[in-house]
Amino acid sequence: MVSKNSPTLKSLQELKEAHNNMNGDIGKVSSFYNNWSDLYDKDVEEQQYIAPTFSAHFFLAFQKQVWQNPSDFHKIRIMDAGCGTGLSGLQLQKLGYTNINGCDIAQNMIDIAKGTNVYQSLSGDADINNLSAFANNQYDAVISCGVFTPGHVFPDALRELVRITKKSGFIVVVTRRSYYQSTNFQEVCDTLKQERLVSSITKQEGPYDMEERAYYWGIKL
Ligand SMILES: C[S@@+](CC[C@H](N)C(=O)[O-])C[C@H]1O[C@@H](n2cnc3c(N)ncnc32)[C@H](O)[C@@H]1O
Repeated sequence: MVSKNSPTLKSLQELKEAHNNMNGDIGKVSSFYNNWSDLYDKDVEEQQYIAPTFSAHFFLAFQKQVWQNPSDFHKIRIMDAGCGTGLSGLQLQKLGYTNINGCDIAQNMIDIAKGTNVYQSLSGDADINNLSAFANNQYDAVISCGVFTPGHVFPDALRELVRITKKSGFIVVVTRRSYYQSTNFQEVCDTLKQERLVSSITKQEGPYDMEERAYYWGIKL
């Protein structure tokens, strides 16, 4: 358990300021979420954070399009990258998925995710920019919701998600619209396609929270 400062309820304005200040600094990001962990679920519910639910349904729909083997449909090995307290994992479980792993940079978020009993395994202190503890080609699918967000990770982190995904697998990533507009995420996607590390990329706009919309990306290796 990482020590906490007294947690405070985060308003949308506070969040925006924190995002700007973090600027992808792993120490700042982990300390921000370690301190917020206890109130995270309550705060994001108030902010009508629908992305975990929307992304889980998008994941199911995308898998129906790209997955070849219907017999293991719900048993696929999934990594929830930046799982936080487990909101996406819970939604995936509701849709029937049974083999979900999670990782996050913030140990206190992971400790809460443990309490959901959704995850087969959980790894704290795992930085998506460099998942060196994770071997190549080991997950059938990866989902990452709420992480490709201003101040959190840089678009190149997508390469790490591709690296740990099997060649038969797929990835679902959520980018806030503001993230997509202010970073080179599209360029990273285009380059991954040119390098033939991925075969197709689709994007759908959808709701995120009360303030912003997002893009939901389905990436097939
Ligand atoms: C907005 S929360 C989303 C959590 C969860 N996926 C959800 O939708 O509720 C962002 C999460 O990303 C994690 N995170 C941010 N940067 C990260 C990084 N570089 N590596 C791993 N996790 C990171 C944070 O610790 C936090 O738990």
